[in-house]
Amino acid sequence: MVKAAVLGYGTVGSGVVQVIEENSDVIAAHGVDMHVKYILDLRDFPGDKYESLVTHDFEDIIKDDEVKVVCEAMGGVEPAFTFSKRALEAGKSVCTSNKELVAAKGAELMRIAKENNANYLFEASVGGGIPILRTINDALTAERIECVKGILNGTTNYILTKMEREGADFDVVLKEAQDKGYAERNPEADVEGHDACRKMAILVSLISHRRADWEQIRTEGITKVTPVDFKYAHKLGRTIKLIAMCQKTDKGFYAIVSPRMIDKDDPINCAQDVFNAVLVRSDMLDDSLYYGRGAGKLPTASAVVGDAVELAKHVGEHFSAGWSEEAENLVDIDSVEFSYFVRLGGSFADRRDELTASFGEVSEVNAGVEGEFGVITKPVSEGSFRTAYEKLTDTKGYIRIG
Ligand code: NDP
Ligand code: HSE
Repeated sequence: MVKAAVLGYGTVGSGVVQVIEENSDVIAAHGVDMHVKYILDLRDFPGDKYESLVTHDFEDIIKDDEVKVVCEAMGGVEPAFTFSKRALEAGKSVCTSNKELVAAKGAELMRIAKENNANYLFEASVGGGIPILRTINDALTAERIECVKGILNGTTNYILTKMEREGADFDVVLKEAQDKGYAERNPEADVEGHDACRKMAILVSLISHRRADWEQIRTEGITKVTPVDFKYAHKLGRTIKLIAMCQKTDKGFYAIVSPRMIDKDDPINCAQDVFNAVLVRSDMLDDSLYYGRGAGKLPTASAVVGDAVELAKHVGEHFSAGWSEEAENLVDIDSVEFSYFVRLGGSFADRRDELTASFGEVSEVNAGVEGEFGVITKPVSEGSFRTAYEKLTDTKGYIRIG
């Protein structure tokens, strides 16, 4: 029998315990007899079914040779990093849902895992319950991946969906997402795009086999998106999603996270509410799409436990792929071209010459909004767009197209 320890008994951690124990027969059918021996948390859980497993002392876990698998679901970099490192150094394998930690210290933890004949897995850190990392690692191993584009944050997709369908108030819907256990402890990470950015850094690292620095990825969240923006999007047969993407160029990968006006028929638009969708474009297979719940207790726990079972099958043997600590230099996003939708005060007729001088040829979008109008630019480089946009007066925002 393999004994597991779960670090953090919050939304994900409690789900991990539930999945391991309630689906132990399913797991056993895969040849793994696994049960939880410890739950580490700061709090007590009086009356909880697994209350007797709770410890407040990590030393209980590290000293127990019976514990071979550690599932980290505490969140944050510290003490999650130190606990994961110590578990790996003790020859225990670790799986996690903690993308902040994987994006910051993943390469180091993978190296430590290898040095100790252990493994560090993190399927749940990207796309919630969608097995996207395993697909890239195991199923697409013969593919040159050229582009990954998707909706990687459940909270913001939930907010945008409600804003579009119901004109709902941002703060009210964010509170709903928090109540459902979708949001990060500090939801700024969701709404400002940092969470999706970390997930994209993990994907680029996995594909390039080198550590991509999430802080190099241009990131814009959804806090400036309003119901009026949706009026323009609908006028164009489009919708607005927080899109994370990376694209291979002859100079390497570029990556960006930002709201985008995508076509309503875009396959990624299948993802509504908390769902995520990830489109992978590769040289032999062409496009393939992965869809599922991007956040929430049991979907995320399912991904963590999938890893835990894999770890239990390989106790004492290093098998996992990952990336090196060498940096992957991302292409300067200012050199990449996008088309932009721009909202401005006044009338198109009065401002047409000014806009043409700024962006080149533009086309008007009239959504019948009083006192303002929109335009769409032809593809222009990000750098030149931003310089020109900042010089304009009476602007009301921009959103990249496609
Ligand atoms: P929660 O805040 O619900 O759970 C974290 C738990 O860990 C809390 O019970 C917390 O205790 C406990 N904890 C924090 N620090 C310590 C510590 N030093 N020692 C022991 N216990 C500690 O977070 P989630 O479950 O939502 O998220 C956990 C991780 O999973 C995060 O990295 C998150 O980004 C990731 N994730 C979350 C998803 C989701 O849908 N919620 C989906 C995918 C990934 P206390 O509350 O007392 O501080
Ligand atoms: N807060 C994250 C989200 C959790 O909403 O997508 C899943 O990683």
